[in-house]
Amino acid sequence: MANTATIEINGQKNEFPLVNGTENEVAIDITKLRSATKGVITIDPGYKNTGSCESAITFLDGEKGILRYRGYSIEELAEKADFLEVAYLLIFGELPTIEQLEKFHSDIKKHSVVDDDVKKILDAFPKSAHPMGVLSSLTSALTAFNPSSVNVNSEQDMYNSVVRILAKFPVLVAWTMRKKQGLPLYYGDSSLGYVENVLKMMFKQPHEERYIQNPILVNALDKLLILHADHEQNCSTSTVRIVGSSHAGLFASLSAGISALWGPLHGGANQAVLEMLEAIKEDGGDTKKYMAKAKDKNDPFRLMGFGHRVYKNFDPRARIIKKAADEVLGDLGVEDPILDIAKGLEKEALNDDYFVKRKLYPNVDFYSGIIYRAMGIPTDMFTVMFALGRLPGWIAQWREMRLKKEPIGRPRQLYIGETLRAFKTIDKR
Ligand code: CMC
Repeated sequence: MANTATIEINGQKNEFPLVNGTENEVAIDITKLRSATKGVITIDPGYKNTGSCESAITFLDGEKGILRYRGYSIEELAEKADFLEVAYLLIFGELPTIEQLEKFHSDIKKHSVVDDDVKKILDAFPKSAHPMGVLSSLTSALTAFNPSSVNVNSEQDMYNSVVRILAKFPVLVAWTMRKKQGLPLYYGDSSLGYVENVLKMMFKQPHEERYIQNPILVNALDKLLILHADHEQNCSTSTVRIVGSSHAGLFASLSAGISALWGPLHGGANQAVLEMLEAIKEDGGDTKKYMAKAKDKNDPFRLMGFGHRVYKNFDPRARIIKKAADEVLGDLGVEDPILDIAKGLEKEALNDDYFVKRKLYPNVDFYSGIIYRAMGIPTDMFTVMFALGRLPGWIAQWREMRLKKEPIGRPRQLYIGETLRAFKTIDKR
């Protein structure tokens, strides 16, 4: 196969090298395009064809429905690993030994205190504040309480910032939920595993002397967090990388990622899916009516939890979550009519020409909300749970970008506005 690509502009041929990824993906390296062509750029709204970086963290083949973290299949990780192991794998590149994992966890526990003044910030939010806005603000506020910048040339400094945020973030997640519910805010319990601690911080009631862990909830949350832990370049991850590329700190970059995740086309879809399923139920469960709305180009309604920029086959995460939804609801003895509506919608969509032609399949968010709801997590916290899962991926991508000394992100544009015109003074009287 040729190892160059030729672009001919006005009769002038320019050759550009092709670069290959380890999974035989091919890219045209256009870093010299502007200088070779005297200013020509490429244009690609939504970056549908543009690789912004080389990355060794996550591999995704959307045609085949493959997702791997550092070479390990998502199916195997979801079955055999726990969330903290996966976090270590994503961030540092290899699965930890037992000693490394224990040290990692013990270092995280040492940093789990969040300054009490953060509670004052939390107090200032109105009750109606969306938890994602609160989480993004609190994450950014952490910078004020941990002002020293990370020296990316120091392995130790990088490590310290990683364990610090992995420790404090679950506290912010739990506090965000409890504050809204008017419950007292607790710190973590260092005798517990990472995910067990999250559950205790979120759910321990004031009247309970002891919080009893439910292994079904622990397993379900562990799996959901693993499935969300990274997803190569996407709206929030690329935001984290681009904010970090200006050498803004880790917490500031993560806060920007949380805001990007919030939107209903991205992580906010899990909340939107549940609200959609509720609305269909309230409306008598007529799925055909909503299928028709989703296909109607004059109707802004979309089937939330369906479709994906990259997956043109089953989202492998959705496959695992659908199975887990059945198991978790069964184990918890929860009967949720919304699960049946979701399955009905999926069946109709998979047999509908509109969806088949556009290769629209359920994505990770289609069934996750049903599990979160069965676990007792409020709907407006669903995207916060996604953020908790995505945290190691964002950290890994930020760390990779800084260690590779990537240049500041700064896209070009094609200007289509007015050309030079003369200023006309208005009569101000
Ligand atoms: N319902 C109805 N039609 C859809 C849907 C949908 N959910 N998704 C895509 N389409 C149609 C779209 O109208 C377009 O049709 P046409 O070619 O006739 O104009 C075609 O499919 C291609 O869609 P697109 O919007 O050009 O695709 P995209 O790659 O820009 O957008 C997406 C991907 C995920 C934003 C989109 O599929 C969507 O809005 N889905 C619903 C929201 C959702 O579930 N988001 C969660 C994504 S997974 C979690 C994560 O972010 O990681």
